[in-house]
Amino acid sequence: MSDIVGAAEQFVRERLGGDAGGHDWWHVDRVRRMALKLAEHEGADRRICEMAALLHDLADDKLVTDEREALRDIRGWLVRRGEPEASADHIVDIIATMSFRGGEDRPPMRTLEGRVVQDADRLDALGAVGIARTFAYSGKKGRPMHDPALRPRESMTAEQYRSGNDTAINHFYEKLLKLKAGMNTEYGRVLAERRHAYTESFLRQFAGEWEGEL
Ligand code: ADP
Ligand code: NI
Repeated sequence: MSDIVGAAEQFVRERLGGDAGGHDWWHVDRVRRMALKLAEHEGADRRICEMAALLHDLADDKLVTDEREALRDIRGWLVRRGEPEASADHIVDIIATMSFRGGEDRPPMRTLEGRVVQDADRLDALGAVGIARTFAYSGKKGRPMHDPALRPRESMTAEQYRSGNDTAINHFYEKLLKLKAGMNTEYGRVLAERRHAYTESFLRQFAGEWEGEL
């Protein structure tokens, strides 16, 4: 069973490939490496963290039409490859609880491993990489990077969150700058604060250049 990690890698690479919207294999690889680092700091089960990180985007509603069916598929895949039922359930539970949806309150992560993987995923939405992903995603959606006439939305339904009039800059205010407050782990919070500060400094520079002041 030890090579189930390698098999999961292969499985995810095939499914995600080079998606240009920020959900590519390299996002998964960064989340996996960050999850392992946080697991070390937190004393979490490294294998559960690595497996959940590798599979975490396979049930995302941007990639699949039926989230529940995708979760059943992942569970089936794990069990067929010899993963014990209890840890397969744990991994699937993490994946199911993980994504943040605008306008919808998700329950908190139930386990330390879940908190670790969720932090690793959130960290990848902040800092230099987070900024790059946001513009890549907006570009893929054909949205403008900025429009001063569109104010960031204070609250929204899941539907509005996905399909509303949005810009890359607004996404920082609607979601990314809120991530820091929800961090679960101590080391994750330290890194999030650093990346948050970098993101804010980018936004100040962007605004200054926009006005021709910098
Ligand atoms: P979400 O819960 O928003 O789907 P993801 O982690 O799946 O979050 O998003 C993948 C990447 O795409 C992230 O870097 C995120 O910032 C970016 N992204 C998601 N929604 C938007 C949006 N409306 N505008 C710009 N970037 C977005
Ligand atoms: Ni992700």
